[in-house]
Amino acid sequence: HDAVRIIEAKRDGRELDDDEVDWIVDGFTRGTVVAEQMSALAMAIYFRGMSDREISRWTAAMVRSGSRLDLTGLSRGGRAVPTVDKHSTGGVGDAITLVLTPLLATWDVAVPQLSGRGLGHTGGTLDKLEAIPGWRAELSGDEMRRIMSDSGAVICAAGADLAPADRALYALRDVTGTVPSIPMIAASIMSKKIAEGTGALVLDVKFGSGAFMTSRTDAEELARVMVGIGTAAGVRTSALVTAMHTPLGRAVGNAVEVAECLEILGGGGPADMVDLTCALAEVALAAVGISDDPRARLSDGRAMDSYRTMISVQGGDPDAELPRAANVEQVRAPAAGRITWDALGVGRASWLAGAGRSAPGEAVDHAAGVLLHRVEGDEVRAGEVIASVYAGDAGRIASALGELGAALDFSDPGFAPARGPAGAV
Ligand code: URA
Repeated sequence: HDAVRIIEAKRDGRELDDDEVDWIVDGFTRGTVVAEQMSALAMAIYFRGMSDREISRWTAAMVRSGSRLDLTGLSRGGRAVPTVDKHSTGGVGDAITLVLTPLLATWDVAVPQLSGRGLGHTGGTLDKLEAIPGWRAELSGDEMRRIMSDSGAVICAAGADLAPADRALYALRDVTGTVPSIPMIAASIMSKKIAEGTGALVLDVKFGSGAFMTSRTDAEELARVMVGIGTAAGVRTSALVTAMHTPLGRAVGNAVEVAECLEILGGGGPADMVDLTCALAEVALAAVGISDDPRARLSDGRAMDSYRTMISVQGGDPDAELPRAANVEQVRAPAAGRITWDALGVGRASWLAGAGRSAPGEAVDHAAGVLLHRVEGDEVRAGEVIASVYAGDAGRIASALGELGAALDFSDPGFAPARGPAGAV
């Protein structure tokens, strides 16, 4: 094979055969297919798309670029348990993983939650948990297995050997305008989830301004493609398609989202987050043959106990005070009326306040972020405090406030609040 011929074939709309897919992904992993060529191919795929067969083959090749964890035979307390995991395609204020992972571990299952960090306006689970003093994201494969056997739940960073082809390709896509491609997003996410070795997977595929897919139709297509890839790879996969036009919950940032999750684990918290957590939990449990009511375990403290264990075994102190920002500025309603917040705008405000990063490897301000005191559908009075912005760096407050002000929307008082699950695949 020859990389140029393969790029030309995709450019001209031809379906790549299995050998061509294997050859190009393998060559990219080994460095014989260079970044320029892979970037050009990514742009050709962006415009031409891929068939379901090509996507499954491409995903399998990315899984094979590294090692696949073998979690079969994992046991807890001497009993074999199924593995089940969840993945969200990314949103604003979406800290569901912090609650769902320990919640699921209250049943006889193990949750191998390999997570990432935020980039741009979307948050990352690891950044949020690192707001907890002492908590450690980097674990070896052995530690991960041991922790899952002991306590059922682990949230940790994906090792360098997990789908390295995806890591390298994502970095190229990020700087070549080729991220929002359904086949490439599907293959990217699913290659990592298949490689982590989970037996079952529930996907939360988001649509709206704060998500990769802005239209519901595209999110449904992404969900269909991901479920197909997972199923073909032997992972029991299902998906919920959920709205991300306005942030989930009230908190957007790192420590502020952890604090909100503690409310949910304590039996309270925002209803939209509780509803979505429970909906995802039901689907995840169904995939491993369990039918039960997740809500009871949020209100009776079992999920909280599981969370405390999960944090402690990874070095975190669940009782430690979370970082607090030196600077807090309040936002007042400029007029009276029924409001909503645009998810992308709020995500960007939190990012400008310091909660996110603009290049991989940058440090984040764990205390920075946004707290919405009034959310979608609330009636507000003129002059009422409706949000707070937190930042360690006072110089960041003004731009965050500007972005947040622009995210406030009075325009559509007739909307039907469409948060939570919109459909299942
Ligand atoms: N998340 C990923 O891991 N990959 C993508 O391509 C998009 C979101």
